[in-house]
Amino acid sequence: MRELNFPKGFLWGASTSAHQTEGDNRHSDWWAFEQAARVGECSGAACDSWNRWPADLDMAAELGLNTYRISIEWARIEPEPGRYDADALAHYVDVVHGIRARGMQCMVVLWHFTNPVWLGSGPGTWHDDDAPQAFERYARYVCGPLAPCVDWWATLNETNTYSSHGWLKGDWPPGRRHDWLGGFRVYEYLARAHRRAYAAIKEVAGPDTRVGLTHVMPWAHPAHKRGMCSGPMQAYWRWLAAHHFLDKVADRIDWLGVQYYYDSPCRALRLVDHDGSTPPRTDMGWRIAPEGLYHVVRDAHVRYGVPIIVTENGLADAGDAQRERFLLDHLAWLHKAIADGADVRGYLHWSMLDNYEWAEGFGPRFGLAHVDYSTFERTLRPSSGALGAIARANAVAAGAGMDLTYADGTGSLGPRE
Ligand code: BGC
Repeated sequence: MRELNFPKGFLWGASTSAHQTEGDNRHSDWWAFEQAARVGECSGAACDSWNRWPADLDMAAELGLNTYRISIEWARIEPEPGRYDADALAHYVDVVHGIRARGMQCMVVLWHFTNPVWLGSGPGTWHDDDAPQAFERYARYVCGPLAPCVDWWATLNETNTYSSHGWLKGDWPPGRRHDWLGGFRVYEYLARAHRRAYAAIKEVAGPDTRVGLTHVMPWAHPAHKRGMCSGPMQAYWRWLAAHHFLDKVADRIDWLGVQYYYDSPCRALRLVDHDGSTPPRTDMGWRIAPEGLYHVVRDAHVRYGVPIIVTENGLADAGDAQRERFLLDHLAWLHKAIADGADVRGYLHWSMLDNYEWAEGFGPRFGLAHVDYSTFERTLRPSSGALGAIARANAVAAGAGMDLTYADGTGSLGPRE
C-alpha cells in the first residue's frame, strides 16, 4: 500500500467556534435572533463547552492531533460598548494555555459570525463607521494576554457566508433578504475591521505574529461538460463568492485559512445542485466532491501566494458511515495539491464535536465526537481514530478505490509515492 506523506511539521487538528459550542451566549446578536424565534432551535447551553472545554481538548490531544482551533466571543468580552469583562478574557487565557499544555498549537479566530448585540446602528449590523474601530479595540484588548499561547491568529471567519445568509437569504442575523447592496457593503466594513485588527495584533504581539483569516472557497465547475460555465463563468463565481472580499485584504494576510465543503456545479450564471452525476451526499444533502479541495487550494495558492491551512472541511454524518472515506479522499486530493506546489501547512477538520449548526439547529452532526445534548457526554466516533492515526503518522495510507482522476478526465496523477 502506498503512503501519502505530508510535509514535516504539518498541522493536524480540529476546529470549533464559540457560539456553536460554549452555550449561554446571551449578549450576542445570534442569541437575540434565536429568542425572537427567527430560527427553529435556540443554541441554549449548546455543548456546554464554556465549562467542559478541558474535556474537548483532552479528546483532541488523545487522538494525536497537534492543533486546535477556537474562536473568542466578542459579545462576552465586551457585553456593553466599552465595558470589557476581565473574567471572560481570563477564561480564554485558560483555554489557550490548556491547548498549549496538551502539546497542541493554538489557532484563535476573533470573529465567527456573532456580534455583540449593541454593534452598529441596528442589531448586529456592521454598516456603521464605528464598527471597524470597535473591532480593533476588542482585538487589542484580547491580543496581549492571549498572544503568548497563540500560534495562528485569524481575524474573521467566512465573511462570504455571513454576507449571503445575513443579507440575501435572511436566515441569519440581521435577517435581511435579497439585499444585495447591503451584502456587498458589509464587505467594506469587514475589510476595514480586518485591516485594523491585523495592524493592532502586529503592534501588540510583534511583527512576526502570523495573522490571517479563514474563508470558504467555492469550486464552481460546469454542470455539463459542454456547458456554458467554462473559464469566464468559473472566474465570475470565484470572484463573487471568494475573491471579491479576499482581494480587499490580500496585502494584509500572512496566511490564509481555506474552507471547503462541497462543489458548486453551475449553469451560466446560476449555481445548480446537480451535474448529471450522482455523488454521495451528506446528511444535509451536500454533495461530496473531494476533488474540489484540490482546486480551491490551487486557486488560493496561485492568487494569494501565502501559506495555506485548510481550516474547515467536514460533513454532517450522524451514523459515521461516510466520514472516514470523506477524510481519506479529501486528504488524497490535498496531498496532490501540495505535490503540485501549493504551500499547505495543515488540515483542521470541522468539527471536534457536534455543535449548534446555526439556522439548522442541533440536527446536523459534524463532530469527530458525538455529543449527547441531554447529558453533554462526548463520545468519539470511530472515524476520529482514522484522523488520529493519520496525524500520528503524518501520512495517509492510500488504499484501493481512491480515485484521483479529475472530473473532466484530464491530468490524473494517481496517488504519489
Ligand atoms: C462555518 C461553521 C459551520 C460549518 C458547517 C462553516 O461555514 O464556519 O460555523 O458550522 O461551515 O456548515
